[in-house]
Amino acid sequence: MARIALVTGGIGGIGTAICTRLAKDGCSVVANHHPTEAAAAEEWKKARAAEGYEIATIAADVSSFEDSARMIKEITDQFGPVDILVNCAGITRDKTFKKMESAQWEAVINVNLNSVFNVTRQVWEGMLERGYGRIINISSVNGQRGQFGQANYSAAKAGMHGFTMALAQEGASKGVTVNTISPGYVETAMTLAMDDTVRNSIIGGIPMRRMARPDEIAAAIAFLASDEAGYMTGANLPVNGGLFMH
Ligand code: CAA
Repeated sequence: MARIALVTGGIGGIGTAICTRLAKDGCSVVANHHPTEAAAAEEWKKARAAEGYEIATIAADVSSFEDSARMIKEITDQFGPVDILVNCAGITRDKTFKKMESAQWEAVINVNLNSVFNVTRQVWEGMLERGYGRIINISSVNGQRGQFGQANYSAAKAGMHGFTMALAQEGASKGVTVNTISPGYVETAMTLAMDDTVRNSIIGGIPMRRMARPDEIAAAIAFLASDEAGYMTGANLPVNGGLFMH
């Protein structure tokens, strides 16, 4: 039986690469997207089908506990229980802290961090009962080292790995692994939104002198999602072109 994988933020830059890679690896994949992206999700689904991947899509606002619960119930009823959860939904609201408003703080904490509780909480008990599960949280190099203009984002991304380490301990004896991936700068709409001068200066500071391609992030996720990664839990795997080493 194919493993059921849910990728939140599944139609975004990194999300798309994760979905297609997991589908290629034989998983039955469901891509979550925000309810306001319904039209884009339909196009996305057709584009994936044209590439040979049948990937289901589901709308839900993962910053809402209730909507996340509804989403998981629908997936379970239609496909079966989720075996692999990739928490990939994320946004930026970059501002120097002196200008940051509470709305920018709250939006980023709700979408990037609270969503991880909202969705994982719905699948966790089932994974423990079945004795198998893979939770993969997509954090960021900026959660590991901080970033000028990203107090909100860095806090949320660092929080994700605290969550990973705690939950890894609760799942360890039950066959459920929980890990973090910390990508560096990746070629997506999120990094394209940065001012050109800022982006070029960031690229200049990356030892590999380039951003990652989304498929280079997806490759690490595919490993953590696989059966053979069963002894790896509570880890924070960097995929950052040498930008941060510790
Ligand atoms: N270190 C020190 N000073 C810096 C700096 C840095 N890294 N970056 C900018 N500054 C300075 C500027 O030189 C400028 O200095 P002066 O005021 O002396 O001229 C000052 O900060 C700019 O301050 P402002 O208050 O005018 O800046 P702003 O409110 O317009 O915000 C910013 C600037 C939006 C934060 C901009 O610097 C920026 O986009 N930075 C990049 C943030 C970033 O890396 N975002 C990542 C997005 S992608 C992502 O998040 C994915 C991932 O996981 C990696």
